[in-house]
Amino acid sequence: MCGIIGYLSRTKGVSKKIIHNLKKLEYRGYDSSGICLLKNNKFLVKKSVGEIANLEQKLNYDDDCVCGIAHTRWATHGKVNLKNTHPHLCPNKTWAVVHNGIIENYLELTKLLQDKNIKLKSDTDTEIIPALMEICEEKNNMDKLKYVTGLLSGSFAICLLNKNENALYVARRHSPLYIAKNQDSCMVSSDPVTFGEDYTTYFPLPDDCFARVDLDTMLVYNKNFEKITLAPCEIGSFEKSAELGKYSYYAEKEISEIPKVVEQILLNYKTVDHFKKLNKQFFKNIKKIKLIGCGTAYHACLMGEKFIQKDARIEAQAYIASEFRYSHPLISNDTLCIFVSQSGETADTLLSLELAKKMGAKTLALVNVPYSSIARSADITLPLCAGMEVAVMSTKAYNAMLTVLKMLSLHLRQLNKNNVDEDLKVLNNVDYFKNIDKIDEISDLVLKSEKVFFIGRVEDYVTSLEAGLKLKEITYINCVSLPSGELKHGTLSLVDNKSLVFVIATDENLLSKNLASASEIKARGGKIVLVTNLDVKRQEEIDYLYKFDKISSSLSSILSVIPFQVLAYKTCIKLGYSPDKPRNLAKSVTVE
Ligand code: AGP
Ligand code: GLU
Repeated sequence: MCGIIGYLSRTKGVSKKIIHNLKKLEYRGYDSSGICLLKNNKFLVKKSVGEIANLEQKLNYDDDCVCGIAHTRWATHGKVNLKNTHPHLCPNKTWAVVHNGIIENYLELTKLLQDKNIKLKSDTDTEIIPALMEICEEKNNMDKLKYVTGLLSGSFAICLLNKNENALYVARRHSPLYIAKNQDSCMVSSDPVTFGEDYTTYFPLPDDCFARVDLDTMLVYNKNFEKITLAPCEIGSFEKSAELGKYSYYAEKEISEIPKVVEQILLNYKTVDHFKKLNKQFFKNIKKIKLIGCGTAYHACLMGEKFIQKDARIEAQAYIASEFRYSHPLISNDTLCIFVSQSGETADTLLSLELAKKMGAKTLALVNVPYSSIARSADITLPLCAGMEVAVMSTKAYNAMLTVLKMLSLHLRQLNKNNVDEDLKVLNNVDYFKNIDKIDEISDLVLKSEKVFFIGRVEDYVTSLEAGLKLKEITYINCVSLPSGELKHGTLSLVDNKSLVFVIATDENLLSKNLASASEIKARGGKIVLVTNLDVKRQEEIDYLYKFDKISSSLSSILSVIPFQVLAYKTCIKLGYSPDKPRNLAKSVTVE
């Protein structure tokens, strides 16, 4: 999703710094970018479509400005073109804005502007914001901001410049925004990852609050227009852990970090008792558990559902966050809702959390980004300890989600004991990448096939979903994931001699059933790749056997997904696509 930078400095020539930091937000995904500098009470605006490098070509970095705002846009309203690229100005050029989010009532508000003869230039939902600031009759600029944000419905993080002031005006609802200050400068950003070089602390702007920041002061108000003081957060190692190092791509680096991440989780949970508050008292009235997330995090929820039901025998169900909110969920104070998210900013997950809280559920979040909105809003948060994940394709965070969910399900099984790490210790002694070189040949098989399928049962079915999502996401190859037992209820009709079917099998008890599905595929001419860590005696149906390291079946899913993460990556590279920035997608989905 889009990225916002606002910057004010005592030293002239801010454009270089602004672009340097805007680049740190590239990982979020964007399609165009722009900057607005303030010079002698006039705005200088430059925009470009595509990479920030294109914008840089239009800048010579010789400005003598002390103040500016910039944006990476991920279009939601209006095509990707210069006209729609942010920053947007109001007609009399008094206000400039950058915005992240969606103004749901922008058409209604456009009519209000038409009545005042104000004409808009872009097709975005954003341009109404500076225009409304222009026509607002309040005298004071803070009053104007309060009035205008009060008119907006939907989600927004905005940063505005007024041509007569060296100050940043900011406001947010649902979309994240952070402020950092030191003696010489201040910065507003969508992600504290931009603060590491110049600041030691930063302030998350709370929901529905707005502020005016200049070099000397920071005035913050809540929605009742009461002045509030923000608590500073330390900039930790998380925000600094995004260096690419010796790797060509973040996807490759992040997959390689999986063993370290699992080790880090075990160490961290051994040192800090994160389960302390999840005690008998907390679970006294809990009868059911709902797990909520999107995409890969939803797959982790599905796996969590299986873990919890099997290990703790508590009724558990996973939901896609965007569906959950509109499915009239049955929630009361006997419900624990668990929210799973890498970024902690996914709009659908965040809004589901708010709904669950309103309906009286207890809430628990599993989040990777420690300072994110979901981490701050849930009753209890369990950290994922995966370090910053930059590639749009989520990899190490998924393995982290499974590890923490497994710990949680074991904790629920034995609420009064405190030795879950004992069961997981074996994870420190497995080879996460056993036989991984063979994936190269398997990726050639994928490229030669016309149709690709992933099948498995129970936990292996969840892995098949995640395997399919990884492949689709970065190779653009269409594929189907389904429970093995469902094949003959429809999808088997697709299988022919141009089909490649990955059969995932990690449960000894289900192996023969999976092999029976393999026979059905084989009989229709399909090729079989069996991905397993079991001893397989009958191999007639199998064209290719991929074996990963042995581990107890209850922990296999943490390992069995890795060959598929690598498969997607290798295939993507062979096809010449970017593994870190797949088309049409963004890392952090902060709009519904
Ligand atoms: C994963 O590869 C995807 N990019 C996507 O499905 C992602 O997992 C989803 O958008 C949820 O994000 P979150 O974990 O940050 O909430
Ligand atoms: N809705 C705005 C637009 O389409 C902002 C999108 C974003 O968050 O980047 O321009």
